[in-house]
Amino acid sequence: MALLAVAGGTGQAGSAVVLEALARGYEVRAFSRRLPPPAAAVEGVEYVVADAATGVGLAAALDGAEVLVDALEGRGRAAQRAFPEAGRRLLAAAHGSGVRRAVMLSIAQCDQIGFGYYRSKVAKEKAYDAAKVPTAVVRASQFHSLLAELFAYGSRFRVVPSVRRARMQPIDVADVARALVEAAAEEAGGHTLRTVSGPETRPVHDFAQEWKTAVGSTAGIIDLPVPGRFFSEGRNLAPGTAFGTTTFAQWLESHSGDSANLS
Ligand SMILES: NC(=O)c1ccc[n+]([C@@H]2O[C@H](COP(=O)([O-])OP(=O)(O)OC[C@H]3O[C@@H](n4cnc5c(N)ncnc54)[C@H](OP(=O)(O)O)[C@@H]3O)[C@@H](O)[C@H]2O)c1
Repeated sequence: MALLAVAGGTGQAGSAVVLEALARGYEVRAFSRRLPPPAAAVEGVEYVVADAATGVGLAAALDGAEVLVDALEGRGRAAQRAFPEAGRRLLAAAHGSGVRRAVMLSIAQCDQIGFGYYRSKVAKEKAYDAAKVPTAVVRASQFHSLLAELFAYGSRFRVVPSVRRARMQPIDVADVARALVEAAAEEAGGHTLRTVSGPETRPVHDFAQEWKTAVGSTAGIIDLPVPGRFFSEGRNLAPGTAFGTTTFAQWLESHSGDSANLS
């Protein structure tokens, strides 16, 4: 059985990759700076500690791995600055360990917006493009959970925030994991780039309404104006990239017991 290593395998996307890879018959090693709490550890997965920002533990984390899926995150100014370099360090370690293919999770349309967070994704994508091992970047649209968290957060203040004149294509993180593991299994050399989004492209207001119905919220929806043309011109959208099959409403239904997202 081939070994698939998941960088950030304890995170939201990384955990989904772990499950998808196990289901496809891979041996799985997940690494991050901290081990997961025992209750969150998935049976049969090897969890190890490694830090992509410093390089400590990376060689051991990648030892014997055939493929690497990078689901790392870098929020906050310092982490954003370190994010591309952490990617280069990870790729160098992957090359040194004989990894056959490395796949990075990135964000749909990240090159269309100038915020530092998105710039850090684009800079890391370039490191993947220039890597010595064959690589793939999979850009994903916003996860269903991100929208739900936004709505839930606002509802604490009795408003459900929406974005005026904006549409979105949210996707289930399980569908993203499927795209990432599929990309890891490909034989292509060089570098590939793919964008995946959810099955629906709809106004954010509609998703806010679905969330309200699902959780029984009586808070009002506020369509907030967002400066700039990113949303109003639909530059956040990636037409023709529908890949996920789970709609936001279906996801809400299957996460009805998850209080973090739904209340
Ligand atoms: N949320 C969305 O809607 C969305 C949409 C498209 C793409 N994405 C992208 O998906 C990626 C993953 O997001 P996520 O929400 O799954 O993030 P997350 O839940 O915060 O998980 C991040 C993972 O990376 C690990 N990590 C962070 N820094 C590390 C380091 N220096 N060395 C080793 N491990 C490190 C974390 O564990 P430790 O902290 O213990 O190290 C954790 O396992 C991000 O790049 C994000 O931009 C997200």
